[in-house]
Amino acid sequence: MTPSHSHPSYSSYYERVTGNCTRLVAAQMLSTISPPIISSSYILDNACGPGMVTEQVKLLHPDARIMATDLAPAMLEQVQQRIEREGWSDVQSDILDVRDLKSFGEGTFSHVFTNFGLLVPGDAEAGVKVARECLRVLRVGGVAVISTWADRVWPSAFCNTARAIRPHEDPQNSIAIKPEWMRGSWLMTQLENAGFGNDVEVRPCLTYTSAPTLDELVDNLLLIKEMFFKGYSDEELERARPVFREEVRELRTFEERDGEARIGMKAWIGMGWKRGNEGRFLRDVVICSMETDERL
Ligand SMILES: C[S@@+](CC[C@H](N)C(=O)[O-])C[C@H]1O[C@@H](n2cnc3c(N)ncnc32)[C@H](O)[C@@H]1O
Repeated sequence: MTPSHSHPSYSSYYERVTGNCTRLVAAQMLSTISPPIISSSYILDNACGPGMVTEQVKLLHPDARIMATDLAPAMLEQVQQRIEREGWSDVQSDILDVRDLKSFGEGTFSHVFTNFGLLVPGDAEAGVKVARECLRVLRVGGVAVISTWADRVWPSAFCNTARAIRPHEDPQNSIAIKPEWMRGSWLMTQLENAGFGNDVEVRPCLTYTSAPTLDELVDNLLLIKEMFFKGYSDEELERARPVFREEVRELRTFEERDGEARIGMKAWIGMGWKRGNEGRFLRDVVICSMETDERL
């Protein structure tokens, strides 16, 4: 079983709502990781959710030493259950805020993965704070890998449905992300500003949310209907479902393939390497710009 095709049945609410989309990105994060994971590696699965990165690391490196952290106790409970159920060895977990990894000293980890954990609701500065903490807890020579959404695609199906059911109201969308935060250049800037300097890279990554049938995909997405249809009556919700189903079917990245119904999505994977000379990079930039100023 290759990581990108691991497709356990959707046993939890989280798995149904995400429909595999974060798992596929976690697999791609690991597919070209440099430095590679070796026996002395110590890996942080930061904002781990139910442990998607941990799962993908364990598929490739069963003996890897991993710390999985999240702020939500319910997520860590799921990780704990998976440690027991799947027999993962050397996986610990801790409740921690991605912006303040206070349990760990400088230079603790060889690899820090933050799969869709960079945005913290209500904190517009979270991006750089999270990336700075990733840099701090990395060993020199280590890599931080951070993913963000470029285009989730399916929120428009909810908004179009809302417009059909309540034509005189602006659609609700409580999971809206600022357009700026969906740019690859924004992710790059968070890494640069956190102190990684120019030892950074950002690449696109395609993924999808899926279910065995269109109807199951629709049911899974409707688990978060409160984010878009809050306050709707039962009668409105009943009318909304077939409209939403059609909107999903008409999404530009919707396809039925390999026995699944899928909506294609796009993410960014950013990487920053800790060289141990980050201060020098900043000094060089300042000296260089002073020299340029003098010449002008
Ligand atoms: C979109 S999920 C990603 C989960 C997982 N990394 C994955 O690949 O599926 C975001 C996770 O971030 C966690 N989270 C939200 N705010 C956080 C914070 N301030 N500190 C740590 N975790 C946080 C949530 O509990 C959730 O598990």
